[in-house]
Amino acid sequence: MAVKTILTEPNQLLRQVSKPVNKVGKEEQQLMDDMLETMYSATGIGLAAIQIGIPKRIIVMDISKEEGKKEPRYFVNPVIKNKDPLKATYEEGCLSVPDQFAEIDRPSKCEVEYLDYHGNKKLVKADGLLATCIQHEMDHLEGILFIDYLSKLKRSMIIKKLSKLKLNTAVL
Ligand code: NI
Repeated sequence: MAVKTILTEPNQLLRQVSKPVNKVGKEEQQLMDDMLETMYSATGIGLAAIQIGIPKRIIVMDISKEEGKKEPRYFVNPVIKNKDPLKATYEEGCLSVPDQFAEIDRPSKCEVEYLDYHGNKKLVKADGLLATCIQHEMDHLEGILFIDYLSKLKRSMIIKKLSKLKLNTAVL
């Protein structure tokens, strides 16, 4: 396993649409291991492959709240089958949009079909934080960031801030 560099906005790669995975093999499992380690080391609760520059439809997640207890989840080729018309609001952040947070409305429940770590077809009925997190991560697969739901003004302010931060930061 290895910790990879997480891309941050603005970066054109983050805007790319990720490609479906043909088969969950060793290479994909290695990628999921690396993604999980990268996510844990950045203390995030979700990460899409494109955030480390790999345009594959793969997501890792761990929303367990208990300290020291790991509950990794893996989603390959996730597809939303059903969305609840009722919305839920969460304050969202993103490892690719460092230190920025905003309240975002999303369907409060969703059903998602996907392949697991071993390539087995699964269906999850998600609500609460899990539903929000899956939808946030699935947006990454379409090149969408949570700041895209904000007003143009708010979004451009955030991107300006992040660009400035990049200029002044030497990552050594
Ligand atoms: Ni994100």
